[in-house]
Amino acid sequence: MPMHHALIVDDDLDSAMTLRELVAGERFTVAVAHTLRDARRQIAMQQPDLVLLDLKLPDGSGMDLFADPQLIANSEIVLITGHASLDTSIEALRLGAADYLVKPIALRQLEGVLARFMKPSALKAEVETLNADLASRGRFGHLWGQSAPMLRVYEQISRVAGTAVTVFITGESGTGKEVVAQSVHDLSRRRQRPFLAVNCGAISPNLIESEIFGHEKGAFTGADRQHLGFFERANGGTLFLDEITEMPLELQVKLLRVLETGRFMRVGSTVSQEADVRIIAATNRPPYQAVAAGKLREDLLYRLNVFPIELPPLRERLSDVGLLAQHFLEGINEQEGRRRQLSPEALERLATYHWPGNVRELRNAVQRAYVMAEGELIDDQWLPRGGPAPVAPAPAAAPAAAATPELRPPTSVPQIEVVTLPIGTSMAQAERALIEATLRHYKHQKERTAAVLGISLKTLYNRLKEYAADGETLP
Ligand SMILES: Nc1ncnc2c1ncn2[C@@H]1O[C@H](COP(=O)(O)OP(=O)(O)OP(=O)(O)O)[C@@H](O)[C@H]1O
Ligand SMILES: [Mg+2]
Repeated sequence: MPMHHALIVDDDLDSAMTLRELVAGERFTVAVAHTLRDARRQIAMQQPDLVLLDLKLPDGSGMDLFADPQLIANSEIVLITGHASLDTSIEALRLGAADYLVKPIALRQLEGVLARFMKPSALKAEVETLNADLASRGRFGHLWGQSAPMLRVYEQISRVAGTAVTVFITGESGTGKEVVAQSVHDLSRRRQRPFLAVNCGAISPNLIESEIFGHEKGAFTGADRQHLGFFERANGGTLFLDEITEMPLELQVKLLRVLETGRFMRVGSTVSQEADVRIIAATNRPPYQAVAAGKLREDLLYRLNVFPIELPPLRERLSDVGLLAQHFLEGINEQEGRRRQLSPEALERLATYHWPGNVRELRNAVQRAYVMAEGELIDDQWLPRGGPAPVAPAPAAAPAAAATPELRPPTSVPQIEVVTLPIGTSMAQAERALIEATLRHYKHQKERTAAVLGISLKTLYNRLKEYAADGETLP
């Protein structure tokens, strides 16, 4: 007995018949509709578990079906689309479609879709379990932390995981981009298939194309046998392209083509093949600065940025530091078979440092302090000491943006406030300017400001008292 019911909505009679034959079988019973009206009637008669939906129908757009919340909640919707309507399809994916098949439909892709079929309710139940764990223990899968910016990240992961859309993860080094990529994969319908992470910065520019797309025997000197690239090895799964701005520009063009056509070619081959791979890309450079610096093609950014996830630096979620530190400590304790604890001073120190290396630096700091601790109590003496927190981004990433501010997008990149000081400014004036700017930035929350600046609350109060006595603020 088939367990699921599929509805095929396609106005092309031949293509609908072919699809019906391919889908019907042990797992699916199949109904067919040729118009929007017919589709609605079929849905009312028997709620489908899977809908294969052509967007262009004689009496309207398949998109109209997305207005039905019942359908979205209970059916996995897979779009059937031509290249030309890629943008509409992406919109549909945003609205909750699970995947899309490009016409003419490739058998391999259809098989992939059927093999990973999963009811939206099953995915939803998993997210609910994760959220319950988040409320009780402060973690979402592998990600620890329950600060407001991280809750937003978890919500984004939950929303995008069940779809096939490309995800673009940005954030400073060590903020957890790879953990987020893995989490998206683990919560997706592709979880049983490979998750492959490729660091584009770690592969030599000569080899990267053949590593990613594979090569044929004899494609170049030294290619003595055929080689399967990451696209083939990740088939049915997720390919994580890390440090995408390090990918040579010519290759970025080729990647763009794969994203637009769903096909790629091995180096040295003239035959293209289907890719059934979900792409997640990441960079620790602000992406629009990378575009301005000529490191990232703007058209590729546009295609990657379908669903951006921005990871906040740790200094903007200092309330998570305690949880994260305990998590890392538990890991080491378990490994070492001990029960070392962080002293209150150590925890205090961790929560006020500015963490330029983010979560990775925190993990290393806990490890180092653990090793250096003499008794079972880990105190603060080996922990990093808070210097002033940089308000501006690291200089390495900055110069390009300064020259072309108009390339900054209106929304997706946070506007980082910068304090600029003329030569001739004294240390005292610089300190005051920085304190006042930071205070303004954090809407006069003194705890936050002190934490970010790496000074005690008392010091902050003292300075503010001095400034108040001095009178007017600096220009
Ligand atoms: N929220 C988190 N909870 C638990 N561990 C985390 C979290 N975020 C990051 N980590 C850990 O911190 C380390 C750095 O994370 P990750 O490698 O994902 O950073 P990244 O953003 O990819 O950095 P880079 O840009 O340098 O590659 C890893 O060991 C990861 O497991
Ligand atoms: Mg990384």
